[in-house]
Amino acid sequence: MKKILHIISSPNGEKSFSTKLGNAIVEKITAANPGSTVKVHDHTKNPFPHLEEATLAAFYTPAENHTAENKKALKHSDDAIAEIRAADIVVIGAPLWNFSIPSVLKAWIDHIARAGVTFKYDETGAEGLIKGKKVYVAMASGAVYSSGPYQAMDFVSSYLTGLLGFLGMTDLSVFRAEGVAYPGQADAALQKGIDSIAL
Ligand SMILES: Cc1cc2nc3c(=O)[nH]c(=O)nc-3n(C[C@H](O)[C@H](O)[C@H](O)COP(=O)(O)O)c2cc1C
Repeated sequence: MKKILHIISSPNGEKSFSTKLGNAIVEKITAANPGSTVKVHDHTKNPFPHLEEATLAAFYTPAENHTAENKKALKHSDDAIAEIRAADIVVIGAPLWNFSIPSVLKAWIDHIARAGVTFKYDETGAEGLIKGKKVYVAMASGAVYSSGPYQAMDFVSSYLTGLLGFLGMTDLSVFRAEGVAYPGQADAALQKGIDSIAL
């Protein structure tokens, strides 16, 4: 029995390939782990705001000195981190936009990457503090990035693997619905992504 958090970052609703692939991952997890619960957070409907001056001031104030204003400014970040901590498994729908991730997903990352809370530095380097999670990334892209001429432009999987690993979420798998913009290939691209899902 697992607690699953499914993050959606495509505004394409039921047409979204990253959401369809993410749903297929969730279905496989729940089939393998009966009684699992799923929390869906659609960031296109409930987005996190950009970081503001008050947020950064609160980030860099030690917790024991937090004012009421700091605590208010930290609410979004606290909520985002609590949502991850409550999950055993995080499924992230990641459409590839302009060789990167949609800004709603980046806004979420800016709230969960917090020095002293989700990572810390010591004399030997950095340590991620969100441990024990399994992360699945459901990527969707117009072109193909896992091989071929655009492979060097695959910044999404490398960024999410690097960033989430930095925060301690090192057990991460990427599945892809790729080449959906190639004429007539969208359905097969999605099916190939679904067939590739290995838990
Ligand atoms: C704003 C925008 C930018 C995009 N940029 C790229 C891109 O740089 N490379 C690419 O291969 N596909 C790009 N695409 C195509 C998407 O990756 C593709 O439509 C994918 O299915 C989007 O995910 P979704 O179906 O979950 O919404 C872009 C699509 C949009 C809407």
